[in-house]
Amino acid sequence: MKFSITLSLCFTLSIFLIGAQAKVPVDEQFLVVNEGGYTDYSPIEYNPDVRGFQPFNDNFRLCFYNTTPNAYTLALRIGNRAQESTLRWVWEANRGSPVKENATLTFGEDGNLVLADADGRLVWQTNTANKGAVGIKILENGNMVIYDANGKFIWQSFDSPTDTLLVGQSLRRNGRNKLVSRLSRSVNTNGPYSLVMEDKKLVLYYTTSKTPKPIVYYDYEFFSKITQLQSMTFQAVEDSDTTWGLHMEGVDSGSQFNVSTFLSRPKHNATLSFIRLESDGNVRVWSYSTLATATAWDVTYTAFTNDDTDGNDECRIPEHCLNFGLCKKGQCNACPTDKGLLGWDETCKTPSLTSCDPKTFHYFKIEGADSFMTKYNGGSSATEKACGDKCTSDCKCLGFFYNRKSSRCWMGYELKTMIRTADASLVAYVKAPNAIKKSVL
Ligand SMILES: *[C@@H]1O[C@H](CO)[C@@H](O)[C@H](O)[C@H]1NC(C)=O
Ligand SMILES: *[C@@H]1O[C@H](CO)[C@@H](O)[C@H](O)[C@H]1NC(C)=O
Ligand SMILES: *[C@@H]1O[C@H](CO)[C@@H](O)[C@H](O)[C@H]1NC(C)=O
Repeated sequence: MKFSITLSLCFTLSIFLIGAQAKVPVDEQFLVVNEGGYTDYSPIEYNPDVRGFQPFNDNFRLCFYNTTPNAYTLALRIGNRAQESTLRWVWEANRGSPVKENATLTFGEDGNLVLADADGRLVWQTNTANKGAVGIKILENGNMVIYDANGKFIWQSFDSPTDTLLVGQSLRRNGRNKLVSRLSRSVNTNGPYSLVMEDKKLVLYYTTSKTPKPIVYYDYEFFSKITQLQSMTFQAVEDSDTTWGLHMEGVDSGSQFNVSTFLSRPKHNATLSFIRLESDGNVRVWSYSTLATATAWDVTYTAFTNDDTDGNDECRIPEHCLNFGLCKKGQCNACPTDKGLLGWDETCKTPSLTSCDPKTFHYFKIEGADSFMTKYNGGSSATEKACGDKCTSDCKCLGFFYNRKSSRCWMGYELKTMIRTADASLVAYVKAPNAIKKSVL
């Protein structure tokens, strides 16, 4: 369906000029009302309805989009508007606080960019009122900036990434130091995965209410000694006439050279690329090429791939098999139960226990099963029996993982995706309720 483009751009009139403080000139001010037709065809990423408006440039545009009725996100879109399949979302203002029809985005005389819902409730703002702003624009690299009369940035969208970093955008020790996945393609709230810049490394975490601390499921390695990372920037560098290198470049307080993690080497100008922690828990780099034909985007890096020789396939992503499942090379192919391995589907879940009383449950064992939590978390040293006793006496423990070679033990407060391995020294034990003896049938 194609709707006519209705831009609701009203330019507020600035009437009062008080004091010497620089004001935003009238023709730089705007008021956008979230109403009218939709400006893009589907499909575009997440399959939303979209209203685009100013500011915009060749490759980026500020828009309202919704994936569920009447719940809009204010976001920056990248891609060529003539080809909807190329459009993707690279920055957003109000994740988890959607606005409705008739919400307003105002950039007024005072230089504050304000998103208010239809009832006037303030939802989001740049906090740049009366700081000398004279305009707002989107730079060629996708950074939306509010600048003063000297061209200095008073605010920039690059300082508030959500799940995406564009080329030149950073995670910072003294600023936002992480990306958080969205819950799903259709639901724009925080998901369970985060990519965090810590003092010495870049780490992927899985957050669940069942454990006091998030669980590491991936770690990016640096091949140099690190003192304390100050920032990590997604960079594209022209390597040769034909290739570009994409990497995360870290500035470390202790060394005079930057540290770097190589990601990919596209065979085209990769200036318009982004790295994103996606809702499936995977990290991907998307590179935009005007040379490419079909979609114009190449996925040039994926953290978990199913042909990975080190076993970093999608089975290592905690909710890859949703609530529960046994996974091999990215395929969720069995649902472990008391009665053996059954076929997997999305209804597979851990057995429901009736009580914490050890008399009411037992364990079933899966030999050759590993967990996302074992690789980057040391576990504790224990005998297999002691490991089991610990789980038995802990009501929240759903099962445990044991490595018979290293005698390490991991409590499973979440079991989720279990990885099938040929290594029989890795075993998983899952709590299951004892059969209830029924006298009458
Ligand atoms: C939006 O505002 C217009 C003009 O005030 C009004 O006619 C319309 O019904 C409003 N839309 C919604 C969904 O409230
Ligand atoms: C280190 O990285 C920062 C941020 O990306 C950059 O500004 C700086 O020029 C780099 N320094 C060196 C020595 O490459
Ligand atoms: C790469 O692409 C960017 C953005 O389109 C452009 O500004 C830049 O000049 C290009 N660089 C080269 C070496 O072609």
